[in-house]
Amino acid sequence: MTTSPYRLETTWQPDGGPFGRFTFTLFNVSDAALSGFKLVYTSLTRVIDPEACENAVFLRRNANFHEFGPPAGLVLQPGEGWTFTVSGLHRTAKHCTDGAKSAYLTLSDGRHVDVAVSDLLLEGAVNEPPPVLLPEGKLDLPFALQPWPAEIDAKPGEGFPVVLSPAPGSSPEDIRAVSTVLALFHRLFESSHAPFNLKPSPQGRTITFRQDAGIAKEGYRLDFSGETIVLAYADASGRRYGLTSLAQLLEGARSKPDLFRFPVSGSISDKPRYGWRGCHLDVSRQFYPAADINRLIDILAWFKMNIFHWHLTDDEAWRLEIKAYPQLTTTGVLRGPDEPLLPQLGNGATPVGGFYSQDDVRAIVAHADSLGVEVIPEIDIPGHSTATLAALPELSDGQEAPESYRSVQGYPNNALNPAIELTYTFLEKVFDEMVELFPSSYIHIGGDEVANGSWLASPLAKKLMDREGISGTFALQSYFLKRIKAMLTARGRKLAGWNEVAHGGGVDPKDSLLIAWEKPEVGMELARSGYDVVMSPGQAYYLDMVQAEAFQEPGASWAGTVPPVHTYTYDAEGDFPDDLKDRMKGVQACIWCEHFLSRGYFNRLVFPRLPAIAEAAWTPKANKDWQRFAAIVRLTPVL
Ligand code: ACM
Repeated sequence: MTTSPYRLETTWQPDGGPFGRFTFTLFNVSDAALSGFKLVYTSLTRVIDPEACENAVFLRRNANFHEFGPPAGLVLQPGEGWTFTVSGLHRTAKHCTDGAKSAYLTLSDGRHVDVAVSDLLLEGAVNEPPPVLLPEGKLDLPFALQPWPAEIDAKPGEGFPVVLSPAPGSSPEDIRAVSTVLALFHRLFESSHAPFNLKPSPQGRTITFRQDAGIAKEGYRLDFSGETIVLAYADASGRRYGLTSLAQLLEGARSKPDLFRFPVSGSISDKPRYGWRGCHLDVSRQFYPAADINRLIDILAWFKMNIFHWHLTDDEAWRLEIKAYPQLTTTGVLRGPDEPLLPQLGNGATPVGGFYSQDDVRAIVAHADSLGVEVIPEIDIPGHSTATLAALPELSDGQEAPESYRSVQGYPNNALNPAIELTYTFLEKVFDEMVELFPSSYIHIGGDEVANGSWLASPLAKKLMDREGISGTFALQSYFLKRIKAMLTARGRKLAGWNEVAHGGGVDPKDSLLIAWEKPEVGMELARSGYDVVMSPGQAYYLDMVQAEAFQEPGASWAGTVPPVHTYTYDAEGDFPDDLKDRMKGVQACIWCEHFLSRGYFNRLVFPRLPAIAEAAWTPKANKDWQRFAAIVRLTPVL
C-alpha cells in the first residue's frame, strides 16, 4: 500500500462551541503545490451549523460525509498545512474515534485522492495509562471451560491424555461429530495439537458415546475415569457441545499447563441457561467477506452460541443478492465520491462495495448449520433504507418534500413508504428469495429508529392515513409492519424485530420476537405486552461501545461506557417478574460496525465481551465468576 501524499490531522477542543470544536490541518506531504481542491472527511460527529466554521467553506453534508473548500486562492506548497476550525457540531466528541475516520481530496481536474487520517486528539490533554480492562483472574478449579458449565465435580489430573478418540464401536454419527469439532478446532487454533484422533491411540483416552433421552435439550454429561470418558447426550447439539468441552479442556491443559488441567475423574453435567444465545453482526456499515462470517460463526460455536443474527441491510448498503432486483447489490452497495451512495464511515477516494451472492449465503448457512448455529437474516425496514431507495428510486413518493425528516444517523427521508404499493410488491419478492435461502424459523425485519415525523410530508402517506383513519408516523409504521408480518406468516415464518416494532400499535405478539436494545426496562414492557423477548441492551451488550471513559478508548458512547466486567456481571433476567420470565428467550451480543475500520479495532472491542455474553447465555447465574472468566478468556480465538 502506498502512503498518501496528504494527511489530515484533527484535534478537538471541548470549549470551542456548544458541543466543542474540531481543528483540522491538511498537510501537503507531496512534492507539488496543491490548489483548487475540495476536502471530504467522514465523521460520526456531524456538523449541523454550516456557518460555524473558520478559514474554510462548508459545501455539503450527507450523514457523516462532510465536504469543505479552502479559502479562495489557497495554495499549499509542499510541506505546508492548511488549518481550519469547525464548530456547530451535533454533539460532543468523547473518544479518539469521534473525529475524521477517512478523508480524500477532489482535485481541480475531478480526480479523487486519499488523505491519510489519524485518531482524534484531545487538545490540552495529557496521556493517561491505558485502563486495565481484564484482571489476571483467579481459578478455583483448573479447567479451561468457556462458557463455564452448569455443574462440575471433577478432579484435575497431573498430566493429560495425548489425544481423545471415539471408542471402538461408536456410531458413524458419533464419529462424524468428532470430525466436525476437530475441524472447528483446527480452524480456530491453527498451530495447536489436535485434541481428537478418529483412530484410538494407545497413549490416548477413548470417548464412549451414550444417547440418553433423560438429558436436557442441548445438554450433555461427561463422566471421566482413568480409562475412558463417557459422553451422554440427548441430541446432536448436546453431543457437539460435550465434544467442544473436551477439546477446550485438553487445549487449556496443553497450552497453559501451569493454569489448567484435564479431569482424571468426576463429571460435568451441563445444559444452557437460554435457548437463544445470539450474536448479531452489522455487515452494512463495513463489509465482511464470507470467510470472516464463517470464522465468526466458528467462534460462536466454540462458545456454544447458537444464533447468528445477520444484519444484511442498512442505510449504508444492501448486502444480500436478490435476483429480482440486481440493482440492490450494484447501486445499493457501492459507496464512492461519484456514486449515488457517498463515502461514509471510513471510505475514501476509491469506491467500495461488497455483497453476498446467493451461493455465498447457502454455503454460510450450511456451515453454520453443521455447527448448530441458526442464521437469522435481517433486512432492516422500513427505516434504515437509504441504500434501498438509492437502488430503487421508484419506491419514493416523488411529491414528498426532500429532507422532510432525518434519521438519528443523519440520513434524510430514509424510510420505505407504507403508502406505496410497489414497496409491498418489492418486499414480497425479497421474502420469496429469502425463505429459499434461510431455513430459520424467524426472519428479522428491523423496525428500529424510524424517525418521528417520517412520511408526514408525503401526500401519498397522508392519503393512506385518511383512508385507514390513522395518524402519525408510528401508526403508519404499525400498518406497514402488520402487512409485513402477514407476508412472513404466509411463508411459514415468524417475525423477529427490534423493540420499536411495538410502537404505534405494533404487530400481533403471537409468533413475534423482539430484541430489546434501547434499555433493559423495554424488554420487560414488551414481555408484559405479550411479545417474546431477547435482551441485548446497548448499555451491556453492544460491543461497539467504549470500554473505558478515557478519551483514547475507541468506540461509540451513546449507551455509556461498557467495560468487560459490566458486560460479564450484567444479568438481563434480573428484574423480570416471575410471571414474565418465560417470555425472555435469551440474550444477544450486537456488533455494530460504524467504528470498526480495521481487524484490530474489531478484535479489541469484541473480545473479551463476546465470550462474556456467551457465558451469560449459557451459565447459571449462581455459577458466574468474573475472576475465573478473566483467567480463562485469554485462550479465546479472535477474528
Ligand atoms: C439499533 O441499535 N438501532 C437496533
